[in-house]
Formats: sequence, C-alpha cells, structure tokens
Amino acid sequence: MEPEKTQNAKKVIFSAIQPSGTITLGNYLGALKNWIGLQDEYDCIYALADLHTITVRQEPAKFRRNALEAYALLLACGIDPQKSPFFVQSQVSEHAQLAWILNCYTQFGELQRMTQFKDKSQKHPDNINAGLFTYPSLMAADILLYQADLVPVGVDQKQHIELTRNIAERFNGLYGQTFKLPDGYIPKTGAKIMSLQDPTHKMSKSDENVNASIAVLDRPEDIMRKFKRAVTDSEACVRRAPGKDGVNNLMGIYTCVTGRTDEQIEAEFAGKGYGDFKAAVGEAVVEHLRPIHEKFDEYIKNKDYLEACYAQGAQKAEAIARKTLRKVMKKVGFLQQKF
Ligand code: TRP
Repeated sequence: MEPEKTQNAKKVIFSAIQPSGTITLGNYLGALKNWIGLQDEYDCIYALADLHTITVRQEPAKFRRNALEAYALLLACGIDPQKSPFFVQSQVSEHAQLAWILNCYTQFGELQRMTQFKDKSQKHPDNINAGLFTYPSLMAADILLYQADLVPVGVDQKQHIELTRNIAERFNGLYGQTFKLPDGYIPKTGAKIMSLQDPTHKMSKSDENVNASIAVLDRPEDIMRKFKRAVTDSEACVRRAPGKDGVNNLMGIYTCVTGRTDEQIEAEFAGKGYGDFKAAVGEAVVEHLRPIHEKFDEYIKNKDYLEACYAQGAQKAEAIARKTLRKVMKKVGFLQQKF
C-alpha cells in the first residue's frame, strides 16, 4: 500500500464543468468563482467534462468551438494552469477506462434513482442513451482518479457525489483501501443564482426567455438590459425577505460581485427605487466581468497557447490518474503490462 499523505499536505480538490455552450453568470458565481479562490489553499485539479457532454447530441463543429471557448473562458476567469492542472477530460483516457470498470461496481437501481437521469430522460425522450444512464459512474471515475478530498459542486450534483462515495466504499470493501472517499464542498459564498425572469427557478442557459439568464460573455449593453428588466415585486423596498425572490436574487448577485453584505446593500438603497438598484447591480456585474472579457479576447485569439496549455494539463492529470488506474486494475485482477 502507498504511504498515506503527510499531515500537512494540502487537500486535493477536483471539479469539472461541461463545455455545453454558454457559461452563465449562474455557473460563474455559483461555481467557477469559487474554484479560483481555492487554488492557493488546496491542490486543485480542474477539467472540462466533455465526455459528459455527448450524452446529449452535439453538432461536431459547434461542440469543438464550445470546448475551446469554455477552456479559454475558464482561464480568463482565473484558473491558473501552473498552479492547478486544467485539462480536457477526453484527452486523459484513464477517465473512460476507470468509468468502465466502475460501471461494473455500480448497480442498475442506483443509477435509476438519479434525479438528473430522470430529468434528462424526460427532456430528451428520443435519446435516452446508455451514456446518460451511466453518467454518474463516469463522474465517479473523474473524482476518484485524483483521490480528491473535496469536490466543489452545486447542490444539483450532491446526489452524484454520494453515489461516488458509495461506489468507492464498495470497491474498497472488496479490494482494500484504494480510493479516498470524497466529500462534496458547497462553498460559503456563491449563492445559487436564479433566473432573472422567474426567480423561483435556477438561472439556466436553456431558458427560452433570453432575458432570464446572463452569459458571462454577454455584451455590457445586454447585461444592463437584462438586469433592468429583472422581475422584482411591488413593495419597492430593497431588503432581503422571504417571498421577495427577485430582490433576494439580485442582492445575492450584488454581494457576489461587490462583497457587500445585505445590511450594506439595504443601507445603500434605502429610500431608492428598484430602478436604481437594478441598474447598480447591472453595472457592478459589467465591471466585474470586464477584465474577464478582456482576457478571454486575448486567449481565444491565441489558439497555440490554448493548445499548449491543455496539452500540459492533460499530461499533469494523466500522471496522477495513471497511478490510480494501475492500482485498480491490479486489484481487480487484470493481467499486468510489464513492457
Ligand atoms: N456533472 C457535472 C455537471 O454537469 C460536471 C462534472 C463532471 C463534474 N465530472 C465531474 C463535477 C466531477 C464535479 C466532479 O455539472
């Protein structure tokens, strides 16, 4: 058995995001922004989960462009590839290999209970493919390959983390300590960002109403327009309270981009109307995203740099992933490749 990590070693964080088109303000404030802040305190490993993306049919040219843009955007958001290996999942073959093995240690019934599977099969009734069904064992492979301690994810992914732990525990029970059991990590900051048009629902890029969601790469004038049209309530008072979903959401967004507390925001807008408030939130978001836009424009023009960057990320990730996969294969009893 390999020696346990020394006490003072940093904890390992793994997370991934799918490059499925637009990355929204919800993705950014709810997840990505936290990823950036974790890079000093933890050993972070981040991936673009493109294997997961093909569970829903993709148009090849668009898929390729989305992946490159997502990679550039995440760098622009502040992932530092020198600190945190940042790679493309499909380029590290251990993910698919371990996923297959884990499939054989995952029960049909467990996968059937996944709410995301149920939701997605309802949304795409004409393409309920096996990949959609076994998506959680691929996600388990992603996490377990890196012996991650913590996995920052939104609440919608918690069930997948629990399944990952169950699979890992089952495997460890059969073969001895092999996988670290990961914990979900729902960061303190980084509220769940809701739709600007229906603040009882999560902000989603697939919303039919274009004013409901904001893309990180939206133009400033579009961001302003969407905030100005955001749904509020008839009280005309900027304060956090149950039932004031629209205002609560805007306050949450304002906190994320300015660091101001609820009390500070309430004081700032005391006696002012929602018009002023919504414009202020819009402006703060535009200002917050401005440097990200600038960096994105720079990166996306430099394809050579992006290619070199993800090649290096894959190499670093693979060096870790390979060790776990080898250990697993040996334990299961596969013939070992000596040459
Ligand atoms: N399933 C996640 C999502 O859609 C993305 C993902 C894939 C992921 N593999 C992961 C997240 C591993 C955390 C850890 O949001």
